[in-house]
Amino acid sequence: MKSEPTASRRAWGFEDGEGPRQPFVLGVDVVPKNRRSAGLSRSDPYTTGISAVCGPSWLNVNVARCGMPCHSEAMQQPSRTARMVAALRARATERETPLCDDPFARALAGPRGFEDAARYEQGYPHIELFVALRTALFDQETRRWLARGCTQVVLLGAGLDTRAARLGQKGVRFFEVDHPTTQADKLARLSALPGYPFENATYVPCDFAVNDFVERLDSSGFLAEQPALLIWEGVTYYLEEPAVRATLRRIAEKLHPSSVILFDHVGKRMGQGNVRDASAIAARDNVAEMGEPVVFGVDHVLPMLYEEGFRRARCASFDEIALNLTGTYDRARTFRFQHAVVASVAEDVWA
Ligand SMILES: C[S@@+](CC[C@H](N)C(=O)[O-])C[C@H]1O[C@@H](n2cnc3c(N)ncnc32)[C@H](O)[C@@H]1O
Repeated sequence: MKSEPTASRRAWGFEDGEGPRQPFVLGVDVVPKNRRSAGLSRSDPYTTGISAVCGPSWLNVNVARCGMPCHSEAMQQPSRTARMVAALRARATERETPLCDDPFARALAGPRGFEDAARYEQGYPHIELFVALRTALFDQETRRWLARGCTQVVLLGAGLDTRAARLGQKGVRFFEVDHPTTQADKLARLSALPGYPFENATYVPCDFAVNDFVERLDSSGFLAEQPALLIWEGVTYYLEEPAVRATLRRIAEKLHPSSVILFDHVGKRMGQGNVRDASAIAARDNVAEMGEPVVFGVDHVLPMLYEEGFRRARCASFDEIALNLTGTYDRARTFRFQHAVVASVAEDVWA
């Protein structure tokens, strides 16, 4: 039976209120009784040396305590975590029965990416499976939103993501937003790849600590009055809570209400370093050594999404995602601390 399309569904291009069924539905998170904001540590290395004058006004937060101020200092060099993730995607792609498929990842990661991946894996053996699951899930969600009529995809903190090449289609525009240093390095690597469809994406250099990413998008041809899918993959844990909130608020306030954000996050104890598990400690130590420390985690994301303007959400632990995508569960993976979220101001993310 056909239903009357809502305004938001019309905005995605639906005529009859029916869309393709999603193959996997994320579970619901539970709203906690007592919500407390994640604490901010004054000893965090990236809180020092950042003055109010260099903080962008749109952040609207106490810059001395926080910020997208994140990795700006470390970002004098291309992101090492981005290369490591590309290496893990490459290895996952080359498995006999791969969960994800990124034929460009090996060339983009380079030897350093594989070295970092091997070191990280010694302390946290399930990292390749985690990255493969995340790529598979985010690819699946991207296809789903494109099938529902989305024509703009924004990759926030794009790193060495190749979705523009892998999932690009006629009429869909991809915008890759990343720190200028990492983006310049990516463009150099892409130019050495024969046949890579460079033109599938618009590259938007943006230091989140200094620039307003919405303004940067606007001046790059992005149409804020049309819905977009925003992919924020592997980034939130490297940002302080006010920066995460500011990004969410900016999306909720400035973009079309039927826009959808897809991101992952870790739990609060992982974000604060309050972990006893050896693999979690090793994971934190490894990225800190790469100059990109984990500084944020949240157990219950719904209150934060609600406070920043979102009214629709689906959340799932990576244990649940692993079960659905592989049919397996293993407590030793400690995936229960990692979550994926799909959220929107107005779009029905369950449909
Ligand atoms: C772990 S990588 C993830 C890359 C990509 N999303 C993926 O999953 O392959 C983190 C990304 O966040 C970006 N990032 C961190 N701090 C940033 C900042 N201040 N401005 C812009 N980008 C930043 C890095 O450049 C890097 O590309």
